[in-house]
Amino acid sequence: MADDIATSEPAAEPAPSPQGEQRPDPQPPVLRIENVVKTFGSFRAVDGLSLDIRAGEFFALLGPSGCGKTTLLRMLAGFEAPDEGRILLSGEDIAQMLPHQRPVNMMFQNYALFPHLNVRDNIAFGLRRAGMPRAEIATRVAEMVALVRLEGLEKRKPDQLSGGQKQRVALARSLARRPQVLLLDEPMAALDKKLRETTQAELMELQRRLGMTFIIVTHDQEEAMTVATRIGVMNAGRLEQVAVPRRLYEEPASRWVAEFVGDINLFEGEVTAREPLRLRVATATAGELVAAQPVAAIGEGRVAVAIRPEKIRLALRRPAGDAAAINCVEGAITDASYLGGKTVYKVRLDGGAVLHAAQANTARLDADGYGLNQRIVAWFTPDDCVVLER
Ligand SMILES: Nc1ncnc2c1ncn2[C@@H]1O[C@H](COP(=O)(O)OP(=O)(O)OP(=O)(O)O)[C@@H](O)[C@H]1O
Ligand SMILES: [Mg+2]
Repeated sequence: MADDIATSEPAAEPAPSPQGEQRPDPQPPVLRIENVVKTFGSFRAVDGLSLDIRAGEFFALLGPSGCGKTTLLRMLAGFEAPDEGRILLSGEDIAQMLPHQRPVNMMFQNYALFPHLNVRDNIAFGLRRAGMPRAEIATRVAEMVALVRLEGLEKRKPDQLSGGQKQRVALARSLARRPQVLLLDEPMAALDKKLRETTQAELMELQRRLGMTFIIVTHDQEEAMTVATRIGVMNAGRLEQVAVPRRLYEEPASRWVAEFVGDINLFEGEVTAREPLRLRVATATAGELVAAQPVAAIGEGRVAVAIRPEKIRLALRRPAGDAAAINCVEGAITDASYLGGKTVYKVRLDGGAVLHAAQANTARLDADGYGLNQRIVAWFTPDDCVVLER
């Protein structure tokens, strides 16, 4: 199942333009990963993974710790060889190509700076080895130093830098040669929120300007959604789903993806009625729910109705009119977390489920919201639910 999604979706879903509309993609992929397997002993760290990356794409890999993200990047960069499968760069198998011969650079998760070289020489290292003229190296290094805001620190050695500064040196070093494909393994994990946001914007601008292809690994979902044209969600060495950020969030392909990306409420149940545009699902913990008919046909087995917290309305009384008739549940507030832009409430429903509902804090002088133990009514529309089979 996961294979089907991972291999078929890139072709079925052309790169969206910045406005979001789809256009056909006549270019062959710059990188084709075909059924790649990597084992350590009997453990399959990457387990038959296939993926096409298009030229000029900013692709993000998301997945829990240990799911094989770094191992995959190391194979693309040439530091590990796949046990099975092929990696094609612009249509050519690169199995025999050494790391420094590949037009691919990798920024490592642990930075891997040369301790005896200062900032400038760390950044210049790959340029010197590639035989770039001195004057050009000086210009390029200065450009990179400015990009990552390290002016004034050029003569420092890595052990005289903070974690975030080291990370910026590693980023500058990996960008300096302007590789065709740049692999970034958690490039911004050590940066503070503001610096991270400006670096994200600069990376996107640079990537567009130079026409490079970026593959970034990040644990930060917002970061992935901000920078990436497409996101691949990895689990246990496989791709669970590959999609544009909006589809990943609004149309997750499985319970696993739904729960991994963002926060979501899942209600397990069985389909009891199939109406022209919607399904009725009997759930044990939230009663009968009504969901819009999903695009793919739903079989006979158990399903989950999934609803994101921000799509739930809360009120002290039942809504008037039609809204009260479907997907309207009652319970008591058990927890309220004020997060600035929104407040997330946990509601223990009378049916037993705990519902997460997020309310946007749109007015500064709003009252304190709902209190603990307060009785509350929650409702949502069928179109805001997703029915998941697997
Ligand atoms: N050289 C190795 N020998 C044995 N096992 C390894 C080796 N390298 C990685 N692994 C194992 O392979 C799995 C995938 O590791 P990998 O580093 O690719 O994970 P990751 O997705 O990058 O995780 P993280 O988000 O924590 O960086 C892990 O279970 C890891 O322990
Ligand atoms: Mg890793």
